[in-house]
Amino acid sequence: MTELNLLDCFRGKKIVVTGHTGFKGSWLTAWLSELGANVIGISFNIPTNPSHFELLNLEDIEDYKIDIRDPFALENLLKIKSPDFVFHLAAQSLVINSYKNPLETWNTNLMGTVNLLEALKSLNNECTAILITSDKCYDNFEWSWGYRETDKLGGADPYSASKGAAEIAISSYFRSYFMKNNNIKIASARAGNVIAGGDWSQNRLIPDCIRAWSIGERVILRNPNSTRPWQHVLEPLSGYLFLASKLHQNNELNGKSFNFGPRDLTTKSVIDLVKKMSDYWPKVKWEVEKLNDEFHESGLLKLNCDLAHEILNWQPKLNFEETIKMTALWYKNYYENKELNVKELTISQIKNYMEYFN
Ligand SMILES: NC(=O)c1ccc[n+]([C@@H]2O[C@H](COP(=O)([O-])OP(=O)(O)OC[C@H]3O[C@@H](n4cnc5c(N)ncnc54)[C@H](O)[C@@H]3O)[C@@H](O)[C@H]2O)c1
Repeated sequence: MTELNLLDCFRGKKIVVTGHTGFKGSWLTAWLSELGANVIGISFNIPTNPSHFELLNLEDIEDYKIDIRDPFALENLLKIKSPDFVFHLAAQSLVINSYKNPLETWNTNLMGTVNLLEALKSLNNECTAILITSDKCYDNFEWSWGYRETDKLGGADPYSASKGAAEIAISSYFRSYFMKNNNIKIASARAGNVIAGGDWSQNRLIPDCIRAWSIGERVILRNPNSTRPWQHVLEPLSGYLFLASKLHQNNELNGKSFNFGPRDLTTKSVIDLVKKMSDYWPKVKWEVEKLNDEFHESGLLKLNCDLAHEILNWQPKLNFEETIKMTALWYKNYYENKELNVKELTISQIKNYMEYFN
């Protein structure tokens, strides 16, 4: 089956996306809509201003304001909608916020996921669910090799630990309930730092650069030598879509976890990324902040993606240069073209990306 054929299975299907107003959720919602799916979005707020989700102005989706910490509201909506697929992305997604608001982070990332698993358990229809955690779910020993799906889970900061704990909850629900239950299939997906146009979150590198550079200011870099598995948002999203499509057809993938990381074997540092971005934003400047270890952010983190390559036949398509180019051009269009139709821009990048598919 070709990669494009894999995406056919979403046409006309009812698909719940939690976190659809967020950065990754808005790209996934746009992509699924473009594939002909009926998207039912669940989020509790619009997390940024500007917001990619609002700019997309997707008229053909259902948009629900629900807090995933409310088990009854979540279960009620899922029962009413009886979705064919669920993509769970809603989370408190920022490490620094997690230090400031650990309780909210744990409640959202762990108990929100447990509430979603409970809601899935209550369904009578067939449903395939992909639960998105993070590469930070691994206990990070700053090894120079990539983490595999069987490596130890854990995390020092509340965000990472809550994602490791969500993985344990997912595995427990699979072994306790879904392994024996024919109608619900689940898998978890672990990806690293994603970049693309349309992200305006606080304390993330690309949004920090864009916010500063768009008003002629210098950006302050916290950890210039930290390396991250940077990848374009469409790369892990394609992984989630392939995984959902294959899991839908193949019971053997039920309960599995998959890493989705970048193509380049050598991961790049913060400073590599900023320098490459600056190729597209002439005369921009940056400054390195004196190291403040109040909120420790982990250094080296690599993912081993052999399982996704072998079992899902998933491959990342873009190299580092292409990833930065797509990202920079999206923001340049946004800030320089007053007549811009954001939906057209985003969909054109999705269509260009799908041209890499066989
Ligand atoms: N962006 C990255 O680089 C990255 C890397 C690894 C993993 N992830 C994971 O991918 C997922 C999406 O990340 P993102 O960058 O799009 O996040 P985001 O912060 O941009 O969006 C978060 C979304 O979750 C929703 N949300 C938060 N708390 C909620 C609650 N209590 N109830 C209902 N909705 C709630 C928000 O409304 C928003 O729609 C998250 O699970 C995140 O942890 C992201």
